[in-house]
Amino acid sequence: MTSPSPDSPAELTLEEKASLTSGSATWYSTAAGDISRLMLTDGPHGLRRQQEGGDNLGIGDSVPATCFPPAVGLGSSWNVDLAHRIGEALGREARAQGVHVLLGPGMNIKRSPLGGRNFEYVSEDPHITGRIAAALVRGIQSRGVAATPKHFAVNNQETDRMRVSADVDERTLREIYLPAFEHVVTEAKPWALMSAYNRINGTFASEDPALLTDLLRGEWGFDGVLVSDWGAVNDRVASVAAGLDLEMPPSDTDAEIVDAVNNGTLDEAVLDTVAERLRLLAARTTDPALATDPVDVDAHHRLAADAAAEAMVLLRNEGDLLPLDPAADARIAVIGEFARTPRYQGGGSSRVVPTRLSGALEEITALIGPENVAFAPGFSLTDNPDTAAALTEEAVAAATGANRILLFLGLPDGFESEGFDRDTLALPAGQLALLERLTTLNIPIVVVLSNGATVEVAEWASSVEAILETWLLGQGGGLATAEVLFGLASPGGRLTETIPLRLSDTPSFLHFPGRDGHVGYGEGVYVGYRHYNTLDVPVAYEFGFGLGYTRFDYDDLAVVPGTDPHTWLVSATVTNVGERAGSEVVQLYVGTTENTPTRPAQELRGFAKVHLVSGESERVTLHLNARDFATWDAGQHRWRVDAGAYTVQVGSSSRRIHLSETIAVPGDDWVSELSEYSTVGEWFAHPVGGPLLQSVRDRMEAFAAGGAPELLRMVEQVPIIKLVSWKMGLTLERVREMVAFVASQR
Ligand code: GLC
Repeated sequence: MTSPSPDSPAELTLEEKASLTSGSATWYSTAAGDISRLMLTDGPHGLRRQQEGGDNLGIGDSVPATCFPPAVGLGSSWNVDLAHRIGEALGREARAQGVHVLLGPGMNIKRSPLGGRNFEYVSEDPHITGRIAAALVRGIQSRGVAATPKHFAVNNQETDRMRVSADVDERTLREIYLPAFEHVVTEAKPWALMSAYNRINGTFASEDPALLTDLLRGEWGFDGVLVSDWGAVNDRVASVAAGLDLEMPPSDTDAEIVDAVNNGTLDEAVLDTVAERLRLLAARTTDPALATDPVDVDAHHRLAADAAAEAMVLLRNEGDLLPLDPAADARIAVIGEFARTPRYQGGGSSRVVPTRLSGALEEITALIGPENVAFAPGFSLTDNPDTAAALTEEAVAAATGANRILLFLGLPDGFESEGFDRDTLALPAGQLALLERLTTLNIPIVVVLSNGATVEVAEWASSVEAILETWLLGQGGGLATAEVLFGLASPGGRLTETIPLRLSDTPSFLHFPGRDGHVGYGEGVYVGYRHYNTLDVPVAYEFGFGLGYTRFDYDDLAVVPGTDPHTWLVSATVTNVGERAGSEVVQLYVGTTENTPTRPAQELRGFAKVHLVSGESERVTLHLNARDFATWDAGQHRWRVDAGAYTVQVGSSSRRIHLSETIAVPGDDWVSELSEYSTVGEWFAHPVGGPLLQSVRDRMEAFAAGGAPELLRMVEQVPIIKLVSWKMGLTLERVREMVAFVASQR
């Protein structure tokens, strides 16, 4: 029992401090002393606040709330301002329900399209993931509610998620799986963060001090509360010692914490720090100055629908079939159960009870009149083979005589969810059979997809006129789909994940989801387009791709050096040269051919979404800095910029580059360490170490000139320490003197 300090609140007892490190109920932290009980609740795209007296599993009914597009959709909008506005709306709804901590955004990288929870994540790329997530965090917290970016870290699969060890090398961690979290923590400063279930290189994420304290707090400056995923704590004491503040839900093992302090294995000061963090979180989330606004349910629904239109990706539009003209194109056959029973969100802990919901069929009928619409479900959501034939015939009958077919296909709830991964990218067999049968009618077909993660389209894409990938769009998706199909809105989405031709082309195919408790990240940094575009692998549709209802020209590229030697301003003018207003996502990639395949040929380093009316132009300016050219040096444990030629690419997708310029980028001025085991080549190349070895170099060059030209290249791969035994005047003492001298010059 420590004596109370004069200026701190009444001192907490050890038992009270221990109780703070675990919840008091499924959705509540613990109150102790002056620290109030806080409510934590899902989720990333809508509030899932349990009805009072909800079950302790937290999967029962929740209070109705606006179901915005899940991250797969919102991410496809590439619209940071929109994400901020949705964050604000989420914060308003959370605060109105007395929620202090909202458990989202989800921001893990989509390593494989098989990931069952990909619908809850933004992209295969860390840059856009970080920007969309940061905007959500800022929006949520602007209303006095804590955001909780999750799941930290390397939680890229559902298979065996509570035990599996993600075995990933340091460079891949730093360049792919950590940067989005780094951006959110350093730029948006979340008040909370959630640790993941899985192990990373053998250590549970919820008890890894290098991750939770050294990196998250020490290097990135996180000052919030670190909460476990629900049930992710395996060792209470190890978790608290590692920097995890709050175990959820409670596990009734506070006594282990008390015992650890009493037997000296846990410093009580750690508990005092936890208390301070919880005190700060309570202060941040109970600010009386911040009014709790009444929620405008209609405005939030409209925002959800607007977001849905910005999110959907038009992949194919032969002959500009879309947008449809009700007068010219009627009679429209609407085929597919998803038109009547919309799939608008994913399964598991993020599931929201929407404030309202309408399917595309209802909205299309309202828009063009029931006399112009024929409907048939076409397939069962359970893909039941017994009813397939009859449903197909019914659909053929409904479509016969129509001018256009709107075919709503996708993945039913049972095919993808939190908690399990897929093992195929194919659409359900019954749907593919229906599609094939409908193509025999020779009526233009528009396929509208509803799926939380990528499906294979290559087999059938050329047999239909248009494909609208709507992902999962939230409660406003039906309205938005009708508005986009009939031209009241434009499809504003671009792919944040590559659509491969086949599963076996995916970079993680040979490693995902692992076995025997381990999953190797053998593809390294070559995730998504970093794989496909470096190896020129043909794909169905590339990262960043999406069509609209108008066209844009790009010109007048300017790449202007900034004051710092590693900064540039990249500007280009984008013009809407089509007949309709529309949006464009201007994408900035940095590429190099010099160091491939040791680094991806191209990486997204900036983007801007512009909305332009016909004939309108906008000059877009994006920024590059040293980090945009850097790779992670796993030997020196730091970011490193290699001097060389880099291409600055501006385009409308990763493979539609309209403007580019090659620039010379200086290396960074880091004087790297040298050791006894640095190779002769590393010593020769070193600005300080090289001159120390000039005599050795001269002798090698003499040997090489004397008839052994290969010698110099061979010896460059030899650790310097090995030359001691070559009796070339290099003693062990001399090598150690040189190492010390180089270190003194850093
Ligand atoms: C779940 C999820 C997490 C969610 C939590 C509470 O298992 O992994 O994202 O916030 O539990 O429902």
